[in-house]
Amino acid sequence: MVMKENPVIETILDHRSIRKYSDQIPSDEVVKTIVRAGQQAPFASQYYSVLLSRNRKRNPFKAPLLFTICIDSHKFELIMAKRGWKLVTNDLTLLFFGIQDAAYMAENMVVTARSLGLGSCFLGSAMFRAAKIAEEYELPERVFPLVQLTMGYPAEDPPPRPRYPMEFTLFEDKYPELNARTVSKAMKQMDEGYLAQEYYRKARAMIPIEAGRKETFTYDDYSWTEHICRKWGQWYPQPNELLEQLEKRGFNIAEKKKPLKK
Ligand SMILES: Cc1cc2nc3c(=O)[nH]c(=O)nc-3n(C[C@H](O)[C@H](O)[C@H](O)COP(=O)(O)O)c2cc1C
Repeated sequence: MVMKENPVIETILDHRSIRKYSDQIPSDEVVKTIVRAGQQAPFASQYYSVLLSRNRKRNPFKAPLLFTICIDSHKFELIMAKRGWKLVTNDLTLLFFGIQDAAYMAENMVVTARSLGLGSCFLGSAMFRAAKIAEEYELPERVFPLVQLTMGYPAEDPPPRPRYPMEFTLFEDKYPELNARTVSKAMKQMDEGYLAQEYYRKARAMIPIEAGRKETFTYDDYSWTEHICRKWGQWYPQPNELLEQLEKRGFNIAEKKKPLKK
């Protein structure tokens, strides 16, 4: 694919999550630059706060920096109270905008960090550990830890991970009817990309199969699409039934059987 090039694009395309960090400690200037650049992301209401821990011994991956990006209604309610207003917008709307504000800020931090030679990795478990994090950082009510971000100078250099093909991502004018070929092609690009890097073998990250079902995968063919199915899904005992149900809803993703040669 022919693409434009410049240092910003290079930094963005060079992204890979870093899970091993060197002993070099990022300076205060570096930390402040990263957070300040994060703040300059577009916002709906700056509906976030960022917590920082430099407790390397306790931080995941022993990272020198651990940021916890929170959705923050508390600060906003204080501003409103000062002006004599009460927050009445429903929580779902605030949550959707809050997630966006926090996410755009966090990604700006990731890119800025990379441009300064630091690596980072998001941790999605924060929202499940919200109560513990709230206690640890003495969070006021209505401040919710959305995601964490480990950061520091890299002590590993993994290859950039694959992404879906453009045709499975960018839909101009109209959402296309996705057929078996496009779905398979997207799956293949992801699976072959991860297999070529031996990602799951090196990480020993195969998710065990549910009790009662025989394991048919090895690290020779276990890859990203199987992994995310195991991560988010529930195994369906009759896969054909599932395909039929999808077909009734108008989605035909079953592979067409080749006609038998006479
Ligand atoms: C919301 C979110 C949660 C994530 N949670 C974790 C996590 O808990 N552990 C981890 O090692 N990586 C986590 N990651 C990093 C992803 O695994 C990683 O971004 C993805 O595999 C693509 O790889 P890359 O970032 O190297 O391109 C998370 C990323 C995001 C955006």
